[in-house]
Parts: sequence; C-alpha cells; structure tokens
Amino acid sequence: TVADLQGLKKGSLRLAVVTTAKYFVPRLLGPFCQRYPNIDVSLKVTNRGRVLERLSANSEDLYILASPPENFEAEAQPFLADALVVLAPGDHPLSHQRNIPLERIAREPFLMREVGSGTRQTVQRIFDKYNLQPNVKMQIGSSEAIKQAIAGGLGISILSHHVLALEGGTDKLAILDVVGFPIRRQWHVVYAKGKALSVVARTFLEYLFSEGQQIAERTSTPMPEQLYSYLLAAEGVE
Ligand code: PGA
Repeated sequence: TVADLQGLKKGSLRLAVVTTAKYFVPRLLGPFCQRYPNIDVSLKVTNRGRVLERLSANSEDLYILASPPENFEAEAQPFLADALVVLAPGDHPLSHQRNIPLERIAREPFLMREVGSGTRQTVQRIFDKYNLQPNVKMQIGSSEAIKQAIAGGLGISILSHHVLALEGGTDKLAILDVVGFPIRRQWHVVYAKGKALSVVARTFLEYLFSEGQQIAERTSTPMPEQLYSYLLAAEGVE
C-alpha cells in the first residue's frame, strides 16, 4: 500500500530556517511527519546571517530564507508567498488613515531587528530606496518580541504578515495602509549548488512545492478583519 511505501522513507531531515519561518514551517511539518513517520526532523531556527553561515558550512540538508543568498552559489526555489506589512498598536492614530506616505512612517518610533536579521535588511532597503531613515527607538532580537512591543505601545515596525499567524481576534495591533505596502515576496527553499540531496530531503522539497502553500493556508487562522480590511479592498491578501 501507499502507507507501506511511505513507511520505507527513513532517515533524518535537517532544516535551518530564518526566525519568521517558525510561524509556518512547524505547521508544514505536521502533515509531513504524519505521512512519513520514520523520518526524523531537526529544525534550527535562527536569523538570516546565521542561516547563511550554516549554509556555507553545509550543516543541514535544506534552508528556508526569504530572499536567496547574495554571495553564495545556491539553488533557491520559491514555495510560499509572503507580504511585509506596517504594524502599529491597534489604537494608533494612523490606523484610520489611508495611503500614508513612508516619510510619515519614518517619523514614528520604530522597533528594529538586530544586525544579521533578514527582516532588518529588507526594512533598511525599503527606507534607503526613498532616502529615508527610520526613527529607531529600540533594537529587538526577535520579531515575536517586536510584535508584543508594538501591542505594548512602544512603537511600530515592518514585519512579515506571518507573525500574525494564529493571532486570533485582537484589537492590540493594526496594519497601517502605507503607500507601496504590502511588500510582496516569496519564501525560498535553498541548498548549495551541486549538493547531492538525500532521498528524504528530495521528498520534503517535493512536498513543499506541491502542497506547501495550500497547507500553510489551510492551517493558519484567517487574519482578524480589523487588521486587514484595507488590504482586502486593495488587492486581496494571501
Ligand atoms: P530574519 O528572517 O529572522 O533573519 O529577520 C526573516 C527574513 O529573512 O526576512
């Protein structure tokens, strides 16, 4: 039977993923591990800089990053949509405004990820593109901690909408309607060019490509309406 064949897939799968991927990779692993009970998975979660170090040291089978590595010969294939949004406290005065210019966002107290974070790199590029500097109020080494700090009223930030996964109904956070947002990008699965992938790693790759997007959507909680109403009006959100 199919189940017997699936049971024959044995071995280990080592993954290293950037911190934002912790919001969807574990949920993708659920059905995968059920289907292949004899595959042992280890999951390293750290920031982009450290994931790139591990990629060049060949520490794992596969890596998950937002954008492909800049200075390393790698295979990088997209498997899941992402969107970066501007998050503010739910009661922020800008939460009722439409088409907020980025200059206005640059004046708000901004919560910035640590050096080495891919989120930080992307945020810095966005501001650089418009010759702006964010008004960094605090550096925080975790997107989850930034989200909580926003809810606590410390400032605003730009984060992947995946940090809102399983958030449920909340009036503590608002997505601001900023010109040029949401910024769309893709999550990529990455490995060194020429690396011989194990059967197990290839099985996981095929699973990501064929079912990744669908399972990520099916297992996530829809975003509360007050968070995304303007996005729906604009063009729909993944
Ligand atoms: P980070 O990863 O945890 O390094 O910020 C997310 C990203 O690459 O955007």
